[in-house]
Amino acid sequence: MRIAPATVLSGDVAVPGVKGISQRAVLLGAVAEGESVIRGFGRAADTEAAIGAVRALGVEVAEEDVDVLRITGAGLYGLREPEAPIDCGNAGTVMRLLAGLLTGQEGRFELVGDASLSGRPQERVAEPLRLMGARIETNEGHAPVRIEGAPLHPIRYELPVASAQVKSAVLLAGLYAKGGPTTVVEPIPTRDHTERLLPALAVRVRRSARDISVSPVKRLRPFELEIPGDFSAAAPFVVAAALVPGSRVRIHGVNVNPTRTGLLDVLERMGVHIALFNRSSAGGEPVADLEVRSPERELRAASIERAEVPLLVDELPLFALAAGLARGESVVRGAQELRVKETDRIETVTTALRGIGIRIEATGDGFRVRGVPTRPAGGSVDSGGDHRIAMLGAVAGLVSRDGVEIEGAESVAISFPGFWDILAQLAR
Ligand code: S3P
Repeated sequence: MRIAPATVLSGDVAVPGVKGISQRAVLLGAVAEGESVIRGFGRAADTEAAIGAVRALGVEVAEEDVDVLRITGAGLYGLREPEAPIDCGNAGTVMRLLAGLLTGQEGRFELVGDASLSGRPQERVAEPLRLMGARIETNEGHAPVRIEGAPLHPIRYELPVASAQVKSAVLLAGLYAKGGPTTVVEPIPTRDHTERLLPALAVRVRRSARDISVSPVKRLRPFELEIPGDFSAAAPFVVAAALVPGSRVRIHGVNVNPTRTGLLDVLERMGVHIALFNRSSAGGEPVADLEVRSPERELRAASIERAEVPLLVDELPLFALAAGLARGESVVRGAQELRVKETDRIETVTTALRGIGIRIEATGDGFRVRGVPTRPAGGSVDSGGDHRIAMLGAVAGLVSRDGVEIEGAESVAISFPGFWDILAQLAR
C-alpha cells in the first residue's frame, strides 16, 4: 500500500473501543455469573482472539452488532477444558491475562499464539503465578503455555518489569487465591484498566501509592459496559495532524486515562497543544474529545525517561517520527520493553524511519533522533507484521515529501481494521 503526502488533515472522526478494555471485558464476562453486555467493543483481530478463546472454553458470546456483545458467563469456576489448544493469535494481552484466569480453574489448558507471540516472554507471568501455587509451564520461556488448574494462595508481588499485562494476570489469579488479598507492587505506574474494570463486577480493589490489592471472591457479578475510543488508535491521527501544517482534527469519545495519554504531555513539551473537551466518563474511565491543530511554530525536541515510558509505550514509534521533524536531539531511555513487543520495536522503528530519511539511532534501551523541522523524503516501510509499525508507516507517508510504500499494511487489522477509511476521511 502506498500513502501519499497530505497537504492537510481535517475533519471529525471516532475510533474503535479500547483494545485492552475490550479484551479484559470479554475475559471477565466469561467468568461472571450470568449475562454481561459490552457496548463499544473495539473489533479487531486481537479482540476477536479474546472472543475465540472464551468460546473455546465453553462460553457463549452473542455478537449483536459489530460493537455489541452479549456474554453468558460460565461463573468463576465454570470454564471448560477445551479439546484443542487455545489460539491467542497475535494478542499478548489475551495470552497473559487468560493465563492468570485459568490457573484457578479445573482442568488442563494450553495457550498458543502466532509466530510473533510465540517469540515473546511468558515466564514473566508464569513466575508470579507459580508463587501463588499455580501449575504452569512455558516452553523455555515462551508459548505454548501449559496450565493445570490448582488451588491458589495470595502473594505480595513486586513487579520486576513495569507491565500492565503481568500486573493484571496476578490480580486476576488473585480472585481465586483463598486466604487473603493478593497485592501487586508496581515500580512505576502502568495502565490501570483492570483495576478500573473489576469494581463493575463487584470486586473490591484497594490501591495505594504503588500497591494494588484484590481479595478472593465467591462470584463475579455480570456487568454492562460502554467502552470509549482507544487512545492508541487515535494517536496516529493526533501525530499526523500535529505534523502536517494547517491541520485541524477532532477525535470524539476517546479514553483519556492518564496511564495511557503520555503522548499528549510529550507533544505539549514539543510545542503541540491538544485540547480536551466534552469530558465525561464511561465504565470507570475518563473520556473526552480531542482537538489537535498543527502548531504555527516548529516543533522542539523532547526526551523521555524510564518513568514516563509506560504512559506512552505503544506510542513511542509515533513519538520517534514526531522527533524526526522536531528541531534538536530527542532521546528515549529506559524503554527496553520495546524489544519484546509484537516486534523488537527499537529495531523496527529505527529501520523504518531511517528508510524514509530520518536520522535515528537505536540504543540498548531506546533510541536517539536528530530532528530537522522539514518533511522527510519518504521511501518504504516494512511493518514486519507489526500493526503499530504499519500505522507508523502510514503517518510517515502523510508527513513525507514523496510518500511511503508500506509492506505488510494489512497488519493494521490486528488492532484497527477501519484505520485506512479514517485516514482517507481526514487526509487530503
Ligand atoms: C497492554 C499492556 C502493554 C501494552 C500492550 C497492551 C495491556 O504491555 O504494550 O499493547 O492491555 O495491558 P505490557 O503490559 O507488557 O507493557
